[in-house]
Amino acid sequence: VDVQTLLNLDEIEEVATKQISKKCWAYYYSAGDDLISKNFNNLVYKQILLRPRVFVDCTRCDLTTSMLGHKVGLPLYVSPAAMARLAHPDGEQGIAKGVSSFGACQIVSNNASMTPEQIVEGSAPGQIFGWQLYVQDQRQKSIEMLKRIGKMADKYKFIVLTLDAPVPGKREHDERSSMSINGLPKKDGSDGGVGKQLFWGTAADLTWKVTLAWLSKHTQLPIVLKGLQTHEDAYLASQYPQVKAVILSNHGGRALDTAPPAVHTLLEIRKFCPEVFGRLEVWVDGGIKRGTDVVKALCLGARAVGVGRAALFGLGAGGTEGVHRTFEILEAEIKTCMRLLGAEKVSDLGPRFVNSRAVERD
Ligand code: FNR
Repeated sequence: VDVQTLLNLDEIEEVATKQISKKCWAYYYSAGDDLISKNFNNLVYKQILLRPRVFVDCTRCDLTTSMLGHKVGLPLYVSPAAMARLAHPDGEQGIAKGVSSFGACQIVSNNASMTPEQIVEGSAPGQIFGWQLYVQDQRQKSIEMLKRIGKMADKYKFIVLTLDAPVPGKREHDERSSMSINGLPKKDGSDGGVGKQLFWGTAADLTWKVTLAWLSKHTQLPIVLKGLQTHEDAYLASQYPQVKAVILSNHGGRALDTAPPAVHTLLEIRKFCPEVFGRLEVWVDGGIKRGTDVVKALCLGARAVGVGRAALFGLGAGGTEGVHRTFEILEAEIKTCMRLLGAEKVSDLGPRFVNSRAVERD
């Protein structure tokens, strides 16, 4: 399939689904329990209406912005996701190459299928990366990784500590795909699914004070906390000076099912502790399928928006080219949206462009 003929992210996912293995599809697609959070992550954007203004000169449209002070070409980044090579041999390096011409940031997973050195090899000058950490029970392993990342300071600009999955969610598609034909767990150690295997050795005993003090001791890089789902936790994060950004996320619905989508948490923060936006950057991910989804999150206060599955399915549909096409589509959709909305640049976006009443709960 020529990926240039694909027009939207659903079409890319459809093609990827036909090309990747069943096991890979089950791992990428899966989410906790009944997929309520996964589906709601996207649905919630459809319930927010845009409020376009007219008589605005929209000949120019500038998507450039910054993440933690580093210039990026657009407010869209790649969320950390494990095992890209399950989809395509280009793997995480293919994702890096696919997004490089957009000047997009990529967050590399602790459980990537290539080394952090390989992934940034041949990346464009100025292209920035973050590295995502799952603290290991054997802390020394994590300390060594942090050291390796610290040596690539021209590429890796921050550490993302993921907090929403101290244990994996119950992902039945993934579990089912690793059962043998007769439905019984396999004896080769692969039962429970890819997710459960990857989580083996991940620490479940992290806490605010102790873990943040430990992490600050082992990295000089700014710390980003991923997986916050309430205004209380966003506020707490803003009390730690070493925390420079938070990512509102429910892990693509893969951890606790019926946990809120990032949009709800954004709205909570706006209502209960808006000062958080001034103290740190707020990034969001989950459920992004359209440029309008991205623009709505930006209007509600997000500085940058991440895509997880979209990048993986792009890779599955056409390797590096497929990832490039995915970002090309999203970039064009974001531009069209902003022009029709009457916004010239990212910093113009704000709550006046959305009506989010239908999704406000309290
Ligand atoms: C993830 N995610 C994830 N997050 C993380 O912090 N570390 C990881 O290793 C992974 N691995 C991972 C694998 C796969 C297959 C998926 C789909 C997701 C979560 C990811 O960073 C992000 O939060 C979600 O993917 C965002 O939702 P969407 O864009 O997939 O809807």
